[in-house]
Amino acid sequence: MKIGIVGLGFVGLSLTSVLASKGYDVVGIDTDKEKCKKINDFKIPFFEPDLEKTLKNGFRKKLTITDNFISLKDCDIIFITVGTPQKSNGEIQLSMIKNATQEIGKIIKNSKKTPIIFLKSTVIPGVAQNTVSRILEKFSGKKAGREFGLVSNPEFLQETTAIRDTKFPHVVILGGNRTKFMDKAKKFLSKLHPGVPIIVTNHQTAEIIKYANNSFLATKISFINQLSNICQNIPGANVDDVASAIGLDPRIGKLFLNAGPGYGGSCLPKDVKAIMNFSSKAGVSPTFLSAVEKINQQQIENILKIIKNTCGSIKNKKITVLGLAFKPHTDDIRDSISLKIIKELLKNQAKITVHDPMAIENTRTKFKDKITYENSISLALKDSNCCIIMTAWPEYSKIQNKILKNMKNKIVIDSRRILKNSKLDCTYIALGIGK
Ligand SMILES: NC(=O)c1ccc[n+]([C@@H]2O[C@H](COP(=O)([O-])OP(=O)(O)OC[C@H]3O[C@@H](n4cnc5c(N)ncnc54)[C@H](O)[C@@H]3O)[C@@H](O)[C@H]2O)c1
Repeated sequence: MKIGIVGLGFVGLSLTSVLASKGYDVVGIDTDKEKCKKINDFKIPFFEPDLEKTLKNGFRKKLTITDNFISLKDCDIIFITVGTPQKSNGEIQLSMIKNATQEIGKIIKNSKKTPIIFLKSTVIPGVAQNTVSRILEKFSGKKAGREFGLVSNPEFLQETTAIRDTKFPHVVILGGNRTKFMDKAKKFLSKLHPGVPIIVTNHQTAEIIKYANNSFLATKISFINQLSNICQNIPGANVDDVASAIGLDPRIGKLFLNAGPGYGGSCLPKDVKAIMNFSSKAGVSPTFLSAVEKINQQQIENILKIIKNTCGSIKNKKITVLGLAFKPHTDDIRDSISLKIIKELLKNQAKITVHDPMAIENTRTKFKDKITYENSISLALKDSNCCIIMTAWPEYSKIQNKILKNMKNKIVIDSRRILKNSKLDCTYIALGIGK
């Protein structure tokens, strides 16, 4: 069985590596020639734990990486994993999906195979049927459900655990018509993921399941962040104890209850905005999700207010931002809250110095020489008027008085509470802990 994967980002490259390492004959395709070259040279274009090892393992078996769609010709299965970035009004951009689908259509036109095409990219309800299926039919001259299969198969992996999540997903969603292709899709995925629940539904339900999932996760985060703000105004109250307690209630669950500066990353902000946009168009005012999003936005304002209240005027003050990646153990800064805070601080003419164990180079491409970059925490803190911990990197939890001693004003604002048990000789403000 030959498998093609179109779009080699976090989702596509993780899937390519896992399938190739399992011994499938795999071709990974991306229109970015430079990216393909890097992958072929074993240089992973982004950091993801275990990806390099899994990819190398795949290359020892039967794996091809190319920008040439012709390699899809003899594929039995094709996964679409291209990006669906956000437009300024919150809608998703479908240009990559449309381009990839056209190319796939042209290839299957002349193929003797009757492939199953899995749509893994996150798309709003209706895209599989109204866009992808129609383009495939138009460019292949073949009929969906008869000469090729189309199955919506949303992805739930998390960056930093992408390989593990690709190997062991918590669920497999298959959306589409109940044809022979759906039976084959189910057979293939139950062999790949033995014991994992498989939910077979139609396209549009599969599409909305992905948004339901991510908007619920965003809801949990905004919920605990609102609680965190309440706790901060109750002397002695601690949001972590609240989260631990309610998390033990099986109806609530303990995950995604870690209060902080708000949700960021390439998925939650984009997906919440996309479903809100879709909801409005469908005639349902997204009242609830608007509040989720508003609370996320307010967290940035809260942090700025704390900085201003503690430092006074921040014009020309050196503010150190520790942590740029949207979460630890990644270099991904897409929609990271740190970057939003930095933009606001720059508007207030603060002088920004940043540190991150992995994400400095990505951040440099955004802010260039508008801010200062340091590879050492001590240097980042030297002569600083205020330090704000944004990402819960383990190295920040080891900060001690001797590292703080060269700060001009020893003010530490800890949005992750990772220093809450340290005895620090400084003004220490932790989000979610009442003074
Ligand atoms: N990153 C995540 O954690 C995650 C998790 C679940 C779902 N998703 C969804 O999966 C999809 C992919 O996300 P990602 O983070 O892997 O994206 P990404 O931006 O990291 O990668 C997308 C890749 O697609 C390539 N591409 C664009 N147009 C192409 C075309 N026409 N043909 C071939 N390749 C093309 C790009 O060059 C890029 O390498 C998105 O819809 C996203 O919302 C992402």
